Amino acid sequence: MDQAEQLRNIIKKQNQKRHIARVITVTSGKGGVGKSSVTINLALQMKKLGKRVIILDADFGLANVEIMLGIRPMYSLADVLYHGKDVKDIITTTPMGLNFISGGSGLRELVDMTREQLSMLVQKLYELDELADIVIIDTGAGISESVLEFVAVSSEVLLIATPEPTSLTDAYALLKTLHKKEEFLPENTTIKLIANRTFSSKDGKDLYDKLNVVAERFLNFKLEYLGNIPHDQNIMRACIQQKPIIMAYPNSPASLALEQLAIQLSDTDAAVLQNKKGISQMFASLLHFRKR
Ligand SMILES: Nc1ncnc2c1ncn2[C@@H]1O[C@H](COP(=O)(O)OP(=O)(O)OP(=O)(O)O)[C@@H](O)[C@H]1O
Ligand SMILES: [Mg+2]
Repeated sequence: MDQAEQLRNIIKKQNQKRHIARVITVTSGKGGVGKSSVTINLALQMKKLGKRVIILDADFGLANVEIMLGIRPMYSLADVLYHGKDVKDIITTTPMGLNFISGGSGLRELVDMTREQLSMLVQKLYELDELADIVIIDTGAGISESVLEFVAVSSEVLLIATPEPTSLTDAYALLKTLHKKEEFLPENTTIKLIANRTFSSKDGKDLYDKLNVVAERFLNFKLEYLGNIPHDQNIMRACIQQKPIIMAYPNSPASLALEQLAIQLSDTDAAVLQNKKGISQMFASLLHFRKR
């Protein structure tokens, strides 16, 4: 047994006795379909439900959770990895009380990390499991290798798509690429679809049916359907005010839908929750596949 394997086993054993976070990874095939909006609003809603929530921003593009919330974090995970900071020192609390960690270059380099660097990340993230009940990871747009790595080792994934045909094909492309990855084991990952910017609840269900049919037929795995969020101009209005819609327009259609989705997520059955492995163990799963 090598050192990395030992580390994975130690964490696995200790996880049976200690508090570990539920990790929810938010992703999409195509960019701009609402990942960051969903992340922020679900985080806030789950906080209202009494959970300790931390957003981990792994969006390597324009870091738009930061922009959407109007915050400028001083530190990022890179400071943990390369400058000796602890995870608790790099958490930014936003004015509305959300806790946020910027992935920064720390996570962008995930694919290029050596086993030693990855082991260090695993050890550092161990602390995060104790600090949060729920960690929501907002991933970047499109199918980058780092995003796929995250998704492949997540126990719970929220896949966001809109009813536009390009969004559907891109979501399918993501599932197909994921399916080819050796890190991805369908029995360890639940993928839940959220249909965003719908004009009716039927739009959402149709989108799910189309995607699920091809996923079942060609990839041999089943998607779950979490629900839909209507197209709602107030999301953009809230964005301009740098506020989450559920704060700025709590009674608007999208806010009510997001509220409902958060409740459904909180009601997730015990079997799924039992499968959760926490953030540290999630990254430890990658060690097994790291050749260098
Ligand atoms: N339900 C909705 N109704 C109307 N507009 C929406 C809805 N959801 C998101 N938007 C708008 O779509 C745009 C993209 O949303 P968001 O930034 O959350 O997407 P993203 O998937 O995180 O994008 P990226 O891939 O660039 O990170 C924003 O302008 C947002 O206001
Ligand atoms: Mg985004």
